[in-house]
Amino acid sequence: MTNKKYLQLIFEIPKDKKKVFDFALEGTLDNTLDVMINYIKDPSLICSNIIYKIISQNKKKMELLKNLLKQQNINSIIEHIEDKNWVKFSNTLRPNLKIGLFFIYSSEKCSLNSIKQQIPIFIKYNNGFGTGQHPTTKGCLIAIQELSKKRKFSKPLEIGSGSGILTVALEKLFKTKITATEYDLQAYETSKNNFKTNKVAKKINLLHQSSINNSKIITNSPYDLIVANILARPIIKFSSKINNISKGSTILVLSGFYFEQYLRIVNKYRYFGFYKLQHYKIDNWITLVLEKRK
Ligand SMILES: C[S@@+](CC[C@H](N)C(=O)[O-])C[C@H]1O[C@@H](n2cnc3c(N)ncnc32)[C@H](O)[C@@H]1O
Repeated sequence: MTNKKYLQLIFEIPKDKKKVFDFALEGTLDNTLDVMINYIKDPSLICSNIIYKIISQNKKKMELLKNLLKQQNINSIIEHIEDKNWVKFSNTLRPNLKIGLFFIYSSEKCSLNSIKQQIPIFIKYNNGFGTGQHPTTKGCLIAIQELSKKRKFSKPLEIGSGSGILTVALEKLFKTKITATEYDLQAYETSKNNFKTNKVAKKINLLHQSSINNSKIITNSPYDLIVANILARPIIKFSSKINNISKGSTILVLSGFYFEQYLRIVNKYRYFGFYKLQHYKIDNWITLVLEKRK
């Protein structure tokens, strides 16, 4: 925890503008430091406005966003948040989420009695990308859930674990040892803490690595499932390395890119013998499922 104060920018927009705002705000946020939450102001109304809360330590950025909103005739306020309450506070802002089989929650007080059919994932520590709210995380969760109905995996790898949400989901679905890698120190620590909170830490070999060239990742290969929600450019850049740690029938779940970028990725991996099984489009984000030919 630093001494810098956290700030919260609050505003509301009409529901039909949500996609545009999600897209526009996405690029302004530091994934590991900032938090963006939005929720329906009044769930009993079909056309209720959406409330946005953006939390950051970057005062300049918050003021810039406030000005940009003003230009769109949207009033916003900036409030100070006490440091000591930060984690607790941001947790209370994040609603519980049901994504397919998974129930993602962030408060110890959450009762799991009513969700017995769901697989709980506790994201207590949230200073790493992966609260479950982003379309790419959702896409990956749905993709691995659907895969689990058809196949068992014994050696999965996740590249870029962030909060650890997908690795926890993989462990809970496949009950096997998982290798996970994360190059950002803060996100790495967050993953580690969330693995402990979900009581899966012993089953996960978490590496603090900046590249998948790492000898431990290579020694442990081939993997039968590789999940990477890490943007288009690294997914393309790593294609040959990902191919080297795969085998016949290895499944790739790739996400973090827009619809416009997805054909380039399919083409790149086709060169290495992967073909497309499925894709999931949420908003304009794509999650791809590829399989390597035997
Ligand atoms: C978009 S977030 C995804 C987090 C989480 N897996 C999810 O799906 O919500 C991408 C994460 O991958 C990490 N990352 C990106 N490239 C990486 C690489 N080459 N090696 C390890 N981690 C990487 C980033 O630091 C970030 O935490």
